[in-house]
Amino acid sequence: MVSLSAVRTHNSSLKYFSPGLVAVFVGGTSGIGFATAREFVRSTNSPHVYLVGRNPTEASRIIDELQQINPSSKLDFIKSDVSLLRNVDEVCKEIKEKENKINLLFMTVGYLTFQGRNETTEGLDRKLSLHYYARMRFAQQLAPLLTTAAKDPDPKANLSRVVTVLDPNISRNFTPNFEDLDLKTTFSLKNCGTHASAMNNFAIEHFAKAYPDSSFCHAYPSGVNTGIMREQGPVMSAIWNVVGKTVFKPFMVDLTESGERHVYASTAPQFAPKANAGGVQDAAKGSDEVTGSGAYQLSWNGEVFGPSKKLETMRSNGAEDKIWGHTEQVFKKICEEGGKV
Ligand SMILES: NC(=O)c1ccc[n+]([C@@H]2O[C@H](COP(=O)([O-])OP(=O)(O)OC[C@H]3O[C@@H](n4cnc5c(N)ncnc54)[C@H](OP(=O)(O)O)[C@@H]3O)[C@@H](O)[C@H]2O)c1
Repeated sequence: MVSLSAVRTHNSSLKYFSPGLVAVFVGGTSGIGFATAREFVRSTNSPHVYLVGRNPTEASRIIDELQQINPSSKLDFIKSDVSLLRNVDEVCKEIKEKENKINLLFMTVGYLTFQGRNETTEGLDRKLSLHYYARMRFAQQLAPLLTTAAKDPDPKANLSRVVTVLDPNISRNFTPNFEDLDLKTTFSLKNCGTHASAMNNFAIEHFAKAYPDSSFCHAYPSGVNTGIMREQGPVMSAIWNVVGKTVFKPFMVDLTESGERHVYASTAPQFAPKANAGGVQDAAKGSDEVTGSGAYQLSWNGEVFGPSKKLETMRSNGAEDKIWGHTEQVFKKICEEGGKV
């Protein structure tokens, strides 16, 4: 476990970076995304932070708070429902018009639901879209800007990382259905969780190879008291808030600590890009068990998850190609052809 004091020591060294790091927080208007944006702004020189979400009131409150924490920061809110991939493309277009590099893409967008399949107008389940497809569309669309950041000749400016916060663990008795990856016909909440986890795991392995100058992390936050129950309505949300602050408190990670730990995950040198991991002392083991492979599965405490027989079997059966091939087909149908799946 990386101790909280080691995390804080690392984060306090981030002023090392040259001014003007650019970070995009997809899901930055609440919970882990907000807490991580706040610690990032606190720890860096003149960062430019984009918060993507739907709630302008919260965004405005957060921007005021972050501006006070670091008056040299530049803060922008982009309002969008990114469960639609065509909206993701609009957001990326707006960012690309303003920036030529991105140092950090941090994604927590999502929600908790007990409802069944809820199809968007693009034909994807809304939850699976937010937990997987939308995130990977952001990564794909912004990857060239992340590469530009990585190639900055200033060694104090070349941070280039994507972090997707969900859960790399796949329950023991569940395996993805490769014949129905978007769960058109076999949707259940359990399958949705399994697919989102597995697809994030293997998609980041694809990205680490396709974009070797950037690194890609899939991080498990543990239990954190956030707005995750918001879509269950105000009563459930309030109950969850009270339970989270009392009964479950001893088992949960404090929100501020979670933000600090996710800044560590977003910046610690051991989670190095594949292209330069050889030059990094103590590069971490990648999700494929290869040191410095550029794709990392992280636990809440900063450690990488150990080997998984289940993932290894899936990997040797071509999971990465199957998942990425399917994802590209979905992107083509929705984003290039303007259709639905
Ligand atoms: N909290 C936990 O204990 C826990 C445990 C394990 C895994 N996770 C995972 O960690 C991730 C982050 O969770 P969190 O606890 O930080 O949740 P949260 O507080 O509910 O934050 C979710 C963020 O996603 C945004 N969002 C939701 N739907 C959106 C949409 N359609 N379009 C644009 N933005 C949208 C929300 O912004 P707006 O309201 O502004 O739209 C908010 O900023 C989630 O994927 C969750 O499943 C959380």
